[in-house]
Amino acid sequence: MAKKKLSVEKKYMLYEIAVQSPDDLIDKFECMYKNENKRPARLLREDFCGTFQLSCEWAKRHPDNKVIALDLDPEPVEFGKKHNLSKLTEAEQENIELRLDDVRIPSTPHADISIACNFSFFIFKDREKLTEYFKAVYESLAEDGILILETIGGPNFINAPFTEERKCSLKNGLIKKKFTYYWEHRYFNPITHDGTYAIHFKYKDKKYEDVFVYDWRIWSIPEIKECMLDAGFKDCLIYWDETDEDGDFTGTFSVVDEAINDDTWISYAVGIKK
Ligand SMILES: C[S@@+](CC[C@H](N)C(=O)[O-])C[C@H]1O[C@@H](n2cnc3c(N)ncnc32)[C@H](O)[C@@H]1O
Repeated sequence: MAKKKLSVEKKYMLYEIAVQSPDDLIDKFECMYKNENKRPARLLREDFCGTFQLSCEWAKRHPDNKVIALDLDPEPVEFGKKHNLSKLTEAEQENIELRLDDVRIPSTPHADISIACNFSFFIFKDREKLTEYFKAVYESLAEDGILILETIGGPNFINAPFTEERKCSLKNGLIKKKFTYYWEHRYFNPITHDGTYAIHFKYKDKKYEDVFVYDWRIWSIPEIKECMLDAGFKDCLIYWDETDEDGDFTGTFSVVDEAINDDTWISYAVGIKK
């Protein structure tokens, strides 16, 4: 039987609600940059930008904030223009440059920060391609620029098959509709670290399968660090989620050399250029 298909509009609307928190992430990235440079970053390069919510949040923060947002796929970018860009002032919109380009192409002008969120760099499955990407970012950054990669791991992340679900709500004006987000670990090969992961949604009592499917290489932190150094970065710092006295994550990240082997963790690998 053919799978039920969500409209493009709904697909990205539900995705943004279920997985993105632009305000919180931009706060973190501003701090990471200031930790290195003692001044605010102004030019952001958002790699794998999709619907570029983070770029829009960046442009809203300061009149001098500018963005180069890169993605190969026009579909999420068009959604982002309609639903995210349109909410900005004219001046803020002018500070965002959208490019339908491969992130492995170096860009100018040189950015203060380059970011890659939701583990998008896992798309590069061998060292050569990952390092090629890091080299392109290195060349695209200003002398004191940084690259921030959102990465994930832990024993549960490579546990497959496994599905977790979470209730979310979509607010359309005054109408609030609940929906369910499913995150499936479909396949993991311990020999190659290839993994297949998928997002499904249940919306208005209908289940939509495989709304997004990811075919990834699950990179470990030491491998990421090695490739960043090979690409020319001077250092790669690991920002880890701090825990409270009960061992629960607090959402505050700090630089560490050692961490507890949590079931699933999200961390930030930050490449320092100078
Ligand atoms: C997992 S989505 C992430 C979207 C967004 N960054 C987020 O955090 O939700 C990955 C995006 O990367 C884009 N992409 C994949 N390979 C790319 C490449 N080589 N260059 C530019 N964009 C690419 C895809 O089109 C897709 O929109």
